[in-house]
Amino acid sequence: MSRWAERPAGGRPRAERAEIASRPHHGGMTPALLVGLPLAGRDVLVTGGGPAAAAHVAALRQVQARVRVVAPHVCEDLRDLVAEHGATVRLDEREPTPVDLDGVWLVVAADDSARDRSAVQGWAEARRTWCVVSDDPAAAQIHDADGLLDRGEVDLRRPPGTLGSVTLVGGGPGAAELITVAGRRALAEADVIVTDRLGPRSVLAHVRPGVEVIDVGKTPGHHPVPQHEINRILVEQAQLGRRVIRLKGGDPFLLGRGGEEVLACQEAAVPVDVIPGISSAFAVPALAGIPVTQREVVAAVHVTSGHEPLAEAALACVRDASATLVVLMGVGNLGHIVEQLRSAGANPATPVAIVERGSTPAQRLTRATLADVVAVAAEVRVRAPAVIVIGAVAAS
Ligand SMILES: C[S@@+](CC[C@H](N)C(=O)[O-])C[C@H]1O[C@@H](n2cnc3c(N)ncnc32)[C@H](O)[C@@H]1O
Repeated sequence: MSRWAERPAGGRPRAERAEIASRPHHGGMTPALLVGLPLAGRDVLVTGGGPAAAAHVAALRQVQARVRVVAPHVCEDLRDLVAEHGATVRLDEREPTPVDLDGVWLVVAADDSARDRSAVQGWAEARRTWCVVSDDPAAAQIHDADGLLDRGEVDLRRPPGTLGSVTLVGGGPGAAELITVAGRRALAEADVIVTDRLGPRSVLAHVRPGVEVIDVGKTPGHHPVPQHEINRILVEQAQLGRRVIRLKGGDPFLLGRGGEEVLACQEAAVPVDVIPGISSAFAVPALAGIPVTQREVVAAVHVTSGHEPLAEAALACVRDASATLVVLMGVGNLGHIVEQLRSAGANPATPVAIVERGSTPAQRLTRATLADVVAVAAEVRVRAPAVIVIGAVAAS
């Protein structure tokens, strides 16, 4: 049984919560501005699991905030709220940490002990995040001057017209361990996940039950969904009021068309943000033991797509041995890439490394030179996805 199971229920009847309380800050020493925060659809962190936390969570749901509670123990009232509100009130039963404040608009420090409340308040101060410090269930009051709640005009589960959001998450090169903590958290909070072929697909096995996963990496005919259609799906899902996570391989903004997805959301006035990822351009060579820069060897790196003809800058870095050239999406065009480099005057002895399926159990490294890489790649049947590294660092 929870520590709080036998305590009285928190919160007051709705009728008594008619106005925002003007509560003094810092023990009453400093006057505070009375404000009404429109928190609908915004993330709020509540620390603490007792009656005060439960009352604040109930009030936050009435204003349609998205709430995460982090507390090692929770009272029955709070557990009931979590069960009742599902996706919009999440519970992590553990001690809070400063990372829990990432991305939240407001923190309610309602921990049982004054010391814990003050620690949370300190983390919020350090991040310039507003923090309400409260151990009093009666302080959880809301402003409902128009009486919308009393007239039942607000649907707390799926408020009509509430806009969702889109978060682009860089999933890294494929291994589940190489997605960021922030990316994992975003996935845990998703209503819908729109996923690619590359990236850490195994993490999808661990998302909440009921989360919709839309695979735009391939259709039954193995054709990727066109970009304009992906943009449309993102916008449409967010307009249904859902929190959409766009899970992408590597980093969303490195040859990943993430910029176009952000623009599509912005044009539709859908809130959008980005959680960067570990790009295959650097991670895949690293996993194969290849540093893309190396002191006293080369101090610059140029990343390019193998789908387009190489730009003069890309040609120059190999011809002059002035930078490492990293080519993504280059396997199908390898012959043409080599031809362009040779025609530009690159040394045929320039080392080349090809790393396929980096970070997966099938990772494979093939080494060659510009002179023989096409033949070697054909012989060992190099396949996409692969990162091609050209320059001195690619030598064994
Ligand atoms: C459309 S680009 C996306 C790149 C991605 N935004 C990134 O930052 O890694 C896809 C290309 O990335 C490379 N790639 C992605 N994941 C890879 C992996 N695990 N192993 C090797 N190459 C990979 C391949 O060149 C693949 O064709």
